[in-house]
Amino acid sequence: MSIETLKWRESPDREAPALIILDQTRLPVEVAEVACGDVETVAAAIEELKVRGAPAIGVAAAYGVALGAWQALAAEEESAAFRRSVGDAVERLARTRPTAVNLFWALDLMKRVLDANSGASNRELYELLRDAAHRLREDDVAICKRIGQHGAGLLKDGDRVLTHCNAGALATAGYGTALGVIYAATEGGKRIEVFADETRPLLQGSRLTAWELMQHGVPVTVICDNMAASVMAARKVDCVIVGADRIAANGDVANKIGTYGVAILAREHGIPFYVAAPTSTVDMKLASGDAIPIEERKPDEVCQGMGTRTAPQEVSIYNPAFDVTPHRLVTSIITEFGVATSPFEPTLRRWTTTGSSETDRA
Ligand code: MRU
Repeated sequence: MSIETLKWRESPDREAPALIILDQTRLPVEVAEVACGDVETVAAAIEELKVRGAPAIGVAAAYGVALGAWQALAAEEESAAFRRSVGDAVERLARTRPTAVNLFWALDLMKRVLDANSGASNRELYELLRDAAHRLREDDVAICKRIGQHGAGLLKDGDRVLTHCNAGALATAGYGTALGVIYAATEGGKRIEVFADETRPLLQGSRLTAWELMQHGVPVTVICDNMAASVMAARKVDCVIVGADRIAANGDVANKIGTYGVAILAREHGIPFYVAAPTSTVDMKLASGDAIPIEERKPDEVCQGMGTRTAPQEVSIYNPAFDVTPHRLVTSIITEFGVATSPFEPTLRRWTTTGSSETDRA
């Protein structure tokens, strides 16, 4: 079954276009879509995690810019005002979530489309921006499949993989990064089983990863986050594969809160820890993970659940959405260009500047 995280609706009779998002806050109870017809609705959908996961956020934001252009076109703004409106859309979308660098990468790309077409009419600019968003979405699926192919070589028939959060089709325009590796391995005939960490506080592992693996017929077992150590100690895990929201030049990896703990556990138990991500997740401007901005989210996500309050009123809550795993705990980084091992920096630099199709192994 193919999962459509994001799709574009636009009819030839010029009815207003819309970005249709599979609402991930409703899964697994309900498969429901939400239509976003303007910049603000897309920005709110990103903030509320209706669409989430680094690559999916980038693609959604690109479509958000296209919708901003449509709104300015429909309002018949003159050229300078049109360009200002598109710039405002970029700024609004950039304020949604700070950690996943794919968001800023996609917005930069959209700004470059605007700047490179100074002589274009407003309608032409709208169409150019919309088509750029389409290309981002299509490229993302193709890139995920290449990540899957490279990563599948690391898995053996019968492997049991532990993953954290959701880095699957739902977190991308389709196929997924960490789960893409598992899909490619199973499509290649390997039998793979998955342990999905539930991933507190928002349960992306149990709500989303378990749901999408079941749609694909991959055997999956949900565990609470605090069970990972004992599952590893019982030798039930052959490797860990996670996604990433931002990878610094030295290979430090920001990913969903709890990933760092899983990496420490994997090291303690001698289990390989793999990170699968497109090179659009690599931020070569940051020397190390210390400079990665970590999103802090609302206390309610931690102190309310299961339909009730789960911590005393007024208690202090700390809710960082991501943590940073130091590169020394990372066995390999799998991208669309291949598999990098330590030292990561030279390989990441080459991949992000020139691109390469070689598989790099130390
Ligand atoms: O807060 P979320 O659900 O957007 O966090 C998502 C993750 O941490 C994913 O692992 C990461 O974005 C990689 S998605 C291919």
